[in-house]
Amino acid sequence: MQLEWAQEGKMWLGLLLMLLLCPSLEGQENSFTINHIYMEILPGQEVQNGENLTLQCIVDISTTSHIKPQHWVLFYKDDVLFHNVSSMETTESYFIPQARVYDAGTYKCTVILNNKEKTTSEYQVWVKGVSDPRVTLDKREAIEGGVVMVNCSVPEEKPPIHFTIEKLKLHANGFKQKREKKKSSYNQNFVMLEFSVEEQDHVIYFQCQATIFSENHMEYSRAIKSELVTVTESFSNPKFHVSPEGVITEGDQLHIRCTIQVTHLVQAFPEIIIQKDKTIVAYKSHGNEASYSVMAMVEHNGNYTCKVEASRISKVSSIVVNITELFSKPKLESSATRLDQGESLNLWCSIPGAPPANFTIQKEKMIMSESQNFTRIASARDSGTYTCNASMGKVVKRSSGVQITVCEMLSKPRIFYDSSSEVIKGQTIAVSCQSINGTVPISYHLLKANNILESRDMTSNEPAVFKDNPTKDVEYQCIVDNCHSHTEMASEVLWVKVIAPVDEVKLSILLNEDVESGKAVTLRCSVNEASGPITFRFYREKETSPFYQITLNDTQAIWHKAKASKEHEGQYYCTASNRGNRVKNSPQSNILTVRVFLAPWIKGLIAVFAIGVIIAILVLGARCYFLKKAKAKQTPVEMSRPAAPLLNSSNEKMLSDPNTEANRHYGYNEDVGNHAMKPINENKEPLTLDVEYTEVEVTSPEPYQDFMENRYSRTDGSLDGT
Ligand SMILES: *[C@@H]1O[C@H](CO)[C@@H](O)[C@H](O)[C@H]1NC(C)=O
Ligand SMILES: *[C@@H]1O[C@H](CO)[C@@H](O)[C@H](O)[C@H]1NC(C)=O
Ligand SMILES: *[C@@H]1O[C@H](CO)[C@@H](O)[C@H](O)[C@H]1NC(C)=O
Ligand SMILES: *[C@@H]1O[C@H](CO)[C@@H](O)[C@H](O)[C@H]1NC(C)=O
Ligand SMILES: *[C@@H]1O[C@H](CO)[C@@H](O)[C@H](O)[C@H]1NC(C)=O
Ligand SMILES: *[C@@H]1O[C@H](CO)[C@@H](O)[C@H](O)[C@H]1NC(C)=O
Ligand SMILES: *[C@@H]1O[C@H](CO)[C@@H](O)[C@H](O)[C@H]1NC(C)=O
Ligand SMILES: *[C@@H]1O[C@H](CO)[C@@H](O)[C@H](O)[C@H]1NC(C)=O
Ligand SMILES: *[C@@H]1O[C@H](CO)[C@@H](O)[C@H](O)[C@H]1NC(C)=O
Ligand SMILES: *[C@@H]1O[C@H](CO)[C@@H](O)[C@H](O)[C@H]1NC(C)=O
Repeated sequence: MQLEWAQEGKMWLGLLLMLLLCPSLEGQENSFTINHIYMEILPGQEVQNGENLTLQCIVDISTTSHIKPQHWVLFYKDDVLFHNVSSMETTESYFIPQARVYDAGTYKCTVILNNKEKTTSEYQVWVKGVSDPRVTLDKREAIEGGVVMVNCSVPEEKPPIHFTIEKLKLHANGFKQKREKKKSSYNQNFVMLEFSVEEQDHVIYFQCQATIFSENHMEYSRAIKSELVTVTESFSNPKFHVSPEGVITEGDQLHIRCTIQVTHLVQAFPEIIIQKDKTIVAYKSHGNEASYSVMAMVEHNGNYTCKVEASRISKVSSIVVNITELFSKPKLESSATRLDQGESLNLWCSIPGAPPANFTIQKEKMIMSESQNFTRIASARDSGTYTCNASMGKVVKRSSGVQITVCEMLSKPRIFYDSSSEVIKGQTIAVSCQSINGTVPISYHLLKANNILESRDMTSNEPAVFKDNPTKDVEYQCIVDNCHSHTEMASEVLWVKVIAPVDEVKLSILLNEDVESGKAVTLRCSVNEASGPITFRFYREKETSPFYQITLNDTQAIWHKAKASKEHEGQYYCTASNRGNRVKNSPQSNILTVRVFLAPWIKGLIAVFAIGVIIAILVLGARCYFLKKAKAKQTPVEMSRPAAPLLNSSNEKMLSDPNTEANRHYGYNEDVGNHAMKPINENKEPLTLDVEYTEVEVTSPEPYQDFMENRYSRTDGSLDGT
């Protein structure tokens, strides 16, 4: 209870004190205003990295009260509140010890007094530079081909940070030998990078620089060096040993060795390669030496390289080997490189300076001569490439090759074709030419009727085959030529007979197709330009076998019958064929109609009789008339004019158009001729009914005049014809 009383007493005392001391509580009527607010940045808006930075917010407040009012001061960086304080002071400070890049930015401060608020303008703060990075290594001693791990960190700064690490050689001058790596870290303030140790890296160190992007530009740290790393060689530089020492002459045994020294630290031996130009002449995979041994020749002169290769390390050294020549390369000469068979072939081999040497001359692999010279009468098989070898002791040298061509004369060419079957016009034949003997290549020219038809070069003695399509009998010849100096040679003439097949057959009748009974009838079957012998066959229509067949070396065949009778009347055709026509493919002629009529004197007799009857009837008629009408006028009877005389000839009468053909031969004008022929044609049917006796029937619709005319013409024609 006592305690409770004491506490209550204290509370009332406090309340009293507050009323006395606090003017705001005492005078609610007090006025205040914020006159001005601004920032002061110390030591300046641009500070060096690591400098202490002080941000001050200074507020100028006017009030009626004699006590300064309580207010809030708020500090913002890039619009983010980072510090607030309740104050009665004019100046409030925010202290940043050792400013870093991330402290750079836009600052402002705000004052709040009851419900009044005022903010400063914005103040840009720059932090120049980046704090020094720290470089640490995983080792202080390394081996060639090994690796060093480098850790570069900037503990004071915040990521993202960009690092640049360089590997440098101590005492190496310039940037040429530096190896640089760059890496950015986005969530850590360090990077780890691995560097390999190369050959010739004796003492190395690393250097690191950090870069941070800030306020639209880059801020750089100093480049900080690491500790030194000592590099141990894995193997030594290769070393050459050449024997014999001093002057090396051709024929000496040349011995080239390449050696290395390998440290005990290396697990696997490197590979040693001896190279001359691009060619590997010796190599060794496990060991510390490679060697090359050969009989020295000038060809072995040159720059030898020894390469020692481990996975990452390669060391090279080179040496020039100079071998003295014993004698120079021999030279093979020839009297000629192209000669005819039978001419003399001369080859000789020599060395400039003519030192004492042994020689051989060989053609391809075969030794032709064991002396300096080679002479023989050339034959075709001596063609080839010749070389010569010259030797002094163990040293053998070969000359360049000489190509010799010995030309064998061509034998007279043979010309032939496959004559087992006859050549039919239109078929292709193969004409072959062949020179059995003679050096190839051979050029063949085929002549057809003395003109070159085709040429061909053959690289063997096989026949040259030419294709042709002769249309008539033809002569071929071929001409050959080759490297031989003899002029070209011609074959015999090859005569090829070409069978022209029968392709057109024509049947015609000599004289007239209307044959007088008892007179001769002659049929001619003809073909155009077909080769003989030709088989002609004469057929009557509707009969399957010919009534006459003959084979002739002529383009026409005649069938003759001395005395024609009515039974020879009918339709005829013929066929003709030769070897050029395939069986059952004999072309057939036109169809010719032959008519046989009665002898003209019988017709004449009938005609005279008929005219007599008519005259008698006329006379009788006239008489009756006169008797009946004595005073009437008399009507004259006009007789037709006589027909034009018939031409006497061996006229042919073709089936194609009998009327016009006839007209031409008989010399009638067309009009008259037509009239003249009509009765015969139209009376064909009645004629056959009354075959033996008469050809003429009275045809009532025809005018009397025409009828008369016709009869006269037939009579005259027949008489003339006999
Ligand atoms: C920076 O501030 C620290 C205290 O935080 C002080 O010890 C140091 O001396 C100051 N440096 C300078 C250069 O004023
Ligand atoms: C100031 O900070 C305190 C806590 O540190 C917070 O409660 C208060 O609301 C802040 N004042 C303003 C005006 O933001
Ligand atoms: C690199 O060094 C920094 C400090 O120097 C350290 O914090 C970090 O762990 C190191 N990184 C590694 C991978 O060891
Ligand atoms: C020999 O060859 C090597 C490698 O190709 C070259 O570096 C060197 O200069 C050459 N030496 C001579 C003398 O040509
Ligand atoms: C090789 O040696 C000969 C003399 O023996 C000399 O004339 C020549 O120049 C040498 N060649 C080289 C490439 O050293
Ligand atoms: C070889 O032939 C060449 C030229 O024909 C001649 O000069 C030389 O004396 C001949 N040599 C011998 C050893 O026959
Ligand atoms: C040539 O050959 C003969 C016999 O094989 C040999 O005795 C002689 O030494 C050779 N001459 C030369 C220069 O090699
Ligand atoms: C000629 O010399 C070459 C090399 O120079 C050799 O391969 C060949 O066997 C030699 N021929 C003869 C017949 O000695
Ligand atoms: C081709 O040559 C051989 C021998 O070389 C000869 O027997 C034959 O008669 C020759 N033939 C002709 C067609 O010249
Ligand atoms: C046709 O002529 C050839 C020669 O030209 C002859 O061999 C053949 O016997 C003749 N044939 C006839 C049927 O006369």
